[in-house]
Amino acid sequence: MNRKVLLLIVLTAILYSCIQEKPLEKVIDQSLAVSMEQYMKMYDVMNEKPGLLPRTLDTAGVLVTARSNWWTSGFFPGSLWYLYEYSKDEKLRDAAVDITSRIEKEKNNTGTHDLGFMLYCSFGNGLRLTGDTSYAGVMLTGAHSLATRYRPKIGCIQSWNSRRGWQCPVIIDNMMNLEFLMWAFKESGDSSFYTICVNHSDTTIKNHFRPDFSSYHVVSYDTATGKVEARQTHQGYADESAWARGQVWGLYGYTVMYRETGLERYLYQAVNIADFLINHPNMPEDRIPYWDFNAPDIPDALRDASAGSIMASALIELSSYVSPEKGSEYLKVAETQIRTLSSDEYLAKPGENGNFILKHGVGHLPGNSEVDVPLTYGDYYYIEALLRYRNKLGQD
Ligand code: GLY
Repeated sequence: MNRKVLLLIVLTAILYSCIQEKPLEKVIDQSLAVSMEQYMKMYDVMNEKPGLLPRTLDTAGVLVTARSNWWTSGFFPGSLWYLYEYSKDEKLRDAAVDITSRIEKEKNNTGTHDLGFMLYCSFGNGLRLTGDTSYAGVMLTGAHSLATRYRPKIGCIQSWNSRRGWQCPVIIDNMMNLEFLMWAFKESGDSSFYTICVNHSDTTIKNHFRPDFSSYHVVSYDTATGKVEARQTHQGYADESAWARGQVWGLYGYTVMYRETGLERYLYQAVNIADFLINHPNMPEDRIPYWDFNAPDIPDALRDASAGSIMASALIELSSYVSPEKGSEYLKVAETQIRTLSSDEYLAKPGENGNFILKHGVGHLPGNSEVDVPLTYGDYYYIEALLRYRNKLGQD
């Protein structure tokens, strides 16, 4: 064969292999390998910091830690549990047990609505994977603590204590704490947990959502009348904007409430939120949302990797509850999100990014806090999405 033709064939083959997409299974396994490497190193660092949990990096790239009462405390131990589930590596199990114990005292914390994030991601995954009944005891105590924040006159769990003139602020994020209370209902048989979850979800549908299924971040209620006193934002661009993470908390929360109750109205809500997000004119092609869908500087606005990972994980679950056509549409979006987050743009190189997994999260931009940084919840839902998609691929 002519040498020129041979060279052309070889070059074409090389080019073809470059433009061929890597199989998703391979992307997922490589990303989980990086995640394990990063979080084992993070565990070594945290071993030197008793009682603390990793939170983010500051603007100089230095690790910022959190005490157990910070809302994100459960995500690092939760991620260790997920990575143990994937790898069956006893070192990860021991790390997960150790770090989980750091937040046990929060079971008595009645000053926050975030006990679901804190205790269900950590102790909840630990219980699921080990069956350790002492974990169930911690969680039931925590669930009773969370239930003290339920306000019957309003039909909601109070999120923050009163602040900024809000008597009873309830944030859309609070939908994420209901999975924990639904577990408590199933564990204890106490139907008041179920009633709280359903009332909270129904009141939130009524008052947090706009006709296009976008949601307000904060709805505050008058404690005497139970009526809405304000609809505003705290972490979003504007009161009337669609703050990205708030939208995806809602998507995830109603997907879980449909799974836990079978009530069609929650599926309807989740599907409509998903469709609002997927079809939004400001949703980028790589499917990682800008930090706010109405940020004024789009397309130069920052992306929020955490919103991308939460949305991917929620869509993978939701894809099982809808028609096959709709399910494959949701899985396609989640696949794009996983591929984007697993690219060099978002996924840390081993040993970099302060041992966190994802780059480019946005915590609270208007407060100039945690802007374009790693975030433990971005990491947690990314790992969850990887595992969920891996399970799906295993089933097909
Ligand atoms: N408050 C939880 C969040 O920043 O999404």
